[in-house]
Amino acid sequence: MKSALAETVTLPAANAAAPASDANYWATVQDLYEVDRSIANLENGYWGIMARPVMETYIEQTQRVNRQNSVYARSGFGKDFDDVRNRLAAAAGVLPEEIALTRGATEALQILISGYNKLQPGDTILYSDLDYDSMQYAMKALQGRRGVELKTFSIPEPATREAVLAAYESVLDETPKAKLLLLTHLSHRTGLVMPVREIADMARAKGVDVIVDAAHSWGQIPFGAGDLGADFVGFNLHKWIGAPVGMGFFYIRKGRLADIDVHMGDEDWPADDIRSRAHTGTLNFAAALSVPAALDLHEQIGSPAKHARLSYLRDYWVGKVRSIGTLEILTPDDASMHAGITSFRVKGKTGKDDNNAIVARLRDEFKVLTVRRAGVANGQCIRVSPALYTTETELDRLVAALTTVAAS
Ligand SMILES: Cc1ncc(COP(=O)(O)O)c(C=O)c1O
Repeated sequence: MKSALAETVTLPAANAAAPASDANYWATVQDLYEVDRSIANLENGYWGIMARPVMETYIEQTQRVNRQNSVYARSGFGKDFDDVRNRLAAAAGVLPEEIALTRGATEALQILISGYNKLQPGDTILYSDLDYDSMQYAMKALQGRRGVELKTFSIPEPATREAVLAAYESVLDETPKAKLLLLTHLSHRTGLVMPVREIADMARAKGVDVIVDAAHSWGQIPFGAGDLGADFVGFNLHKWIGAPVGMGFFYIRKGRLADIDVHMGDEDWPADDIRSRAHTGTLNFAAALSVPAALDLHEQIGSPAKHARLSYLRDYWVGKVRSIGTLEILTPDDASMHAGITSFRVKGKTGKDDNNAIVARLRDEFKVLTVRRAGVANGQCIRVSPALYTTETELDRLVAALTTVAAS
């Protein structure tokens, strides 16, 4: 299912020697986004602006669906929705029967966490300080629902690859009753990218299943849904894939479906069909129908090129502030441990009010939008998440702002 509008986008070939910093190429990509630049929006981790071809598809589909109402919803949509799932499975490198669409990563991961039925009373479940709040809540709820013990642990700072692997190794070693681990591929708090494959292999060797939260990683980092070594993964499509808000999906590796309960609200699909695990009710038809356009553009730019560009933008500002002694940069420069997002902390400013004040100052005095993130064991911090439309000039504004803020 190719979207006609996305096919009309033609991008020049990027400079092969330095594709991530090719100004001409990225200016063409930046032009695909209609952005309010009265503020440098470095808070794209919340959700992703649709590129123009996706937005046009979305508007067109909204008008079409609205015009045709139930005539379309009761006849044509079922087949079109199947096509969307097939298109998505091809993009994610898995079988269509291994995925089901949801309204976002929250719904996807809640289904996986609450539906995971291999837990026995007395088993232990694990998550770290860097995992997403509402997924932590869902894991906590398993204590009452499944009679399990919860163990939490912290990711060390500074977070090197070795230190992160050691943290997971030691919590797995210390917890012989561990059965389930929640693992966030790319942390929304600090931007840290976890060595998921190694951790999942380590967990598997100890009989621990892993549910991966890939809400932020797919679209920033090139990988297929089955490449992470985990059998259960939740995804977003409205962050870094650039689909309309309200789209996500989950992956359950073939052979593991029985380990996630059938959704309590579903009798429409047989138990051996993954769609029986999600029952969203009436959904945003136009948003679902726009997913292929978002995937077309994602693939046209290319996942490796998006990763390279987002990493370049992150390195651009981090490289200019790394030496400021009063700033703590919460992802290492190891390219495998970050993508486009990185958080910082002004040394000693670990509380809510301090960080809110810095965010307000960046916004009001320097016209740079960031966001405070809580929940990191070593203290609160401020997240910077540029997007494909972000310019170096906007990042220079951030650098100037941080230089001033860190000195005061
Ligand atoms: C790591 C992580 N997981 C899950 C989610 C939930 O995504 P959504 O609210 O789009 O469903 C988010 C959202 O920011 C996130 O950052």
